[in-house]
Amino acid sequence: MIEFRSLTEADFLMLCEWLNSPHMRAHYQKTPITIEEVQGKYSERLSPSHPTHCHIARYNGETFGMLQCYSLRNYPDFASEIGEQDGVAVDLFIGEERFIGKDFGKAMLRSYVLNVVPSIFPQECFICHAKENKIAIRGSLSAGFLPYRDVIERGVESLLLSFDRPI
Ligand SMILES: CC(C)(COP(=O)(O)OP(=O)(O)OC[C@H]1O[C@@H](n2cnc3c(N)ncnc32)[C@H](O)[C@@H]1OP(=O)(O)O)[C@@H](O)C(=O)NCCC(=O)NCCS
Repeated sequence: MIEFRSLTEADFLMLCEWLNSPHMRAHYQKTPITIEEVQGKYSERLSPSHPTHCHIARYNGETFGMLQCYSLRNYPDFASEIGEQDGVAVDLFIGEERFIGKDFGKAMLRSYVLNVVPSIFPQECFICHAKENKIAIRGSLSAGFLPYRDVIERGVESLLLSFDRPI
């Protein structure tokens, strides 16, 4: 069973290590990031009034990944790139390399969009992946997302998917 808790300041060192891991370079954190930059970027997201809500995922007491959700209305540039003005978007990564490729990605995403996101945002949920990020796309499909449209995100050919919420 995967559990979620809000990101805290005590997570910043771990987060910095995760973001600088080699497996994060291709799609999520394309350039190295310093601890000062992590603090600068994520400190403000600790406030419940910030439009982006960050969560840490745990399994068996071990922290292994991070997810965030945010209302598209607060990010008009991204909203315009993906052609959706309303709704919520989710990003995710597995920080601990030993958890990669063992079904944790798709499991944490499904649990997050079913159990955490609706308690913060009621709107339709989207996720966007670079077309080249085939593992992320497969994982999101397995988590219950459906292909929605092709988009260009920051110059990269990408696939927007929407969550097919069970009735
Ligand atoms: C994307 C990510 C969250 C997926 O999590 P994961 O635990 O590695 O992936 P899963 O084990 O859940 O597998 C997801 C799918 O990819 C497939 N897959 C996993 N590793 C694979 C590999 N090395 N080669 C081919 N397919 C692979 C799985 O079989 C599964 O497909 P299926 O459901 O059709 O069987 C994780 O790899 C990650 O954090 N990547 C770096 C950050 C990133 O790219 N984030 C997404 C951008 S928002």
